[in-house]
Amino acid sequence: MKVLGATPTRNLALELARVTEAGAMMAGRFMGRGDKEGADQAAVNAMRLILSTVDMNGIIVIGEGEKDKAPMLFNGEIVGNGSQPDVDVAVDPIDGTRPLAFGRSNSLATVAVSPRGTMFDPGPFVYMNKIAVGPESKGKIDIEKPITENLKAVAKAKNKDIEDLTTIILDRPRHDDMVAEIRKAGARIRLIPDGDVAAALMTAWPDSGVDVLIGIGGTPEGVIAACALRAMGGEIQGKLYAQDENELQRGRDAGYDFDKVITMDDLVSSEDVFFAATGITDGELLKGVRYYGDHITTDTLVVRGLTGTVRQIIATHTTDKLENLSLIRY
Ligand code: FBP
Repeated sequence: MKVLGATPTRNLALELARVTEAGAMMAGRFMGRGDKEGADQAAVNAMRLILSTVDMNGIIVIGEGEKDKAPMLFNGEIVGNGSQPDVDVAVDPIDGTRPLAFGRSNSLATVAVSPRGTMFDPGPFVYMNKIAVGPESKGKIDIEKPITENLKAVAKAKNKDIEDLTTIILDRPRHDDMVAEIRKAGARIRLIPDGDVAAALMTAWPDSGVDVLIGIGGTPEGVIAACALRAMGGEIQGKLYAQDENELQRGRDAGYDFDKVITMDDLVSSEDVFFAATGITDGELLKGVRYYGDHITTDTLVVRGLTGTVRQIIATHTTDKLENLSLIRY
């Protein structure tokens, strides 16, 4: 092997895998129990503990609201063991708390890290209109254009007809017009109950059968998806979405521009980005957590932007050894 250039820097994503594995193993216990808050709290407790061992000086930019509103990983919380590098951290301990609470598919534990100051801070503005695609369609989408034109561009980039495309969109009444337009254009549709982080990942996942994500979902989820797609070579664009005039006015007063296209660069401006996601319930991308008494298995996706390496880590965790070490009762 020829050695070129400097020694590679550390792959933080491999450490982040431990964080999402821990969150998923704890949250998985709540599958179908109807207790969203309990599941979230369990995932957060485990993730906070493992985050504190990661070699980084992190600040949570995308967390679960302000400190007083949630006993959660809050925006502004310092995480990591305090050593270099200085980084921004985005967490969604459970993307798909509802599916988890009812034992449905595709809930994930996720975390992303990028250099300090490079992640978009959406403030209190929770919704964003999004379009996301995989590597073949990168550079071909424009959220300002009608959906039909975007579908034509994606079809051309993928050497398909529009009728061959599969779009994925959250099943919400706010999407009725978009769904009608997609149907009119002739593309196929998957209406999903929840989980647009997993949906965004599918656009860049070979053989997932999904070509494009469209629609209004969470802004924090948009930043996390941007970190993953940036690393996987795809693209996401967005525009902040106000639920009413009042929110629009508050946003404008706070200096947010709801007419501006938020590019992937705005969402995360560095290539040096890390992303990890562990399946909690079974999904198309990742298997859910399995409990076997003395051991637990997890399935994790780990991505690093600088190298573009995508790893899938299937891990077997020996319960009593882990519990002795980490004080978490899985
Ligand atoms: P949480 O599980 O983190 O609550 O998010 C689930 C989710 O479906 C996201 O994937 C999506 O971005 C958002 O909720 C959509 O919001 P809403 O359910 O309010 O339409």
